[in-house]
Amino acid sequence: MSADWDPEQYARFRHERSQPFFDLLDLIKPVPGGRVVDLGCGTGELTRILHERTGAGETLGIDRSPAMLGRAAAVAGGGLRFEQVAIEEFRPAEPYDLVFSNAALQWLPDHERLMARLAGWVAPGGQLAFQVPANADHPSHRIAHEVAREEPFATALGGYVREWPVLAPERYAALMDRLGFGEVHVRLQVYVHRLASSAEVVEWVRGTLLTDYERRLGPGLYGMYLERYRARLRAEIGEPAPYVYTFKRILGTGRKQGAAD
Ligand SMILES: C[S@@+](CC[C@H](N)C(=O)[O-])C[C@H]1O[C@@H](n2cnc3c(N)ncnc32)[C@H](O)[C@@H]1O
Repeated sequence: MSADWDPEQYARFRHERSQPFFDLLDLIKPVPGGRVVDLGCGTGELTRILHERTGAGETLGIDRSPAMLGRAAAVAGGGLRFEQVAIEEFRPAEPYDLVFSNAALQWLPDHERLMARLAGWVAPGGQLAFQVPANADHPSHRIAHEVAREEPFATALGGYVREWPVLAPERYAALMDRLGFGEVHVRLQVYVHRLASSAEVVEWVRGTLLTDYERRLGPGLYGMYLERYRARLRAEIGEPAPYVYTFKRILGTGRKQGAAD
């Protein structure tokens, strides 16, 4: 059973995937000498940029995937370090000047409670910044779950279908306000990715969304699942080349009210 993310597959669309990170970075204020945590940091290359651009004294990147973190050691040092720990098990000893997460929180359930937990990790005057995909209604995402409900996959998965926890943008804005954040900025942004062909969409989601089904189905059935997914996607979006893959994402930032006000 494939138990983990594949950094090579994830890196195939490195440029497209990193653009929202840079857009989020543009929304935050530097924290010279401060403490930063990057939740679901992946391979750590972007955490390095986060560390340098914020001027942080200490940045901790956490991720639960040993394969993704395998690359992080190469960029660690100078106040940047990494730990293998799941976000749901993370218990920081002290609050942070910036709690940051790019493209990872969508893997955690119950965002109402999650946002409250993350808010508790931000020091007074500190910032919370996150980016999550909001593309659940695109055929690339919808069909993945529809195929999981088909046999033989439904039985093999024990009825499991990945729930999509991402809330509406206005809900994050209201939550952040309720949790004591000011300067709240939440936006829905549509990214336009020109892929060589619609077949590339499969390669895209194989690096992220489908990893969950891959882990649960095991290699044999996952191969069948992928073929079924490919055929259904082709039937719905056709075979245009190039293919314009529109991808919605939510970017959110805010500053916790408190000492610095
Ligand atoms: C799409 S990648 C994003 C990586 C990085 N933030 C970036 O922008 O390149 C999602 C990452 O979240 C991690 N992840 C997913 N669920 C997690 C959890 N519950 N706790 C910690 N990390 C998690 C995965 O291992 C993966 O490295």
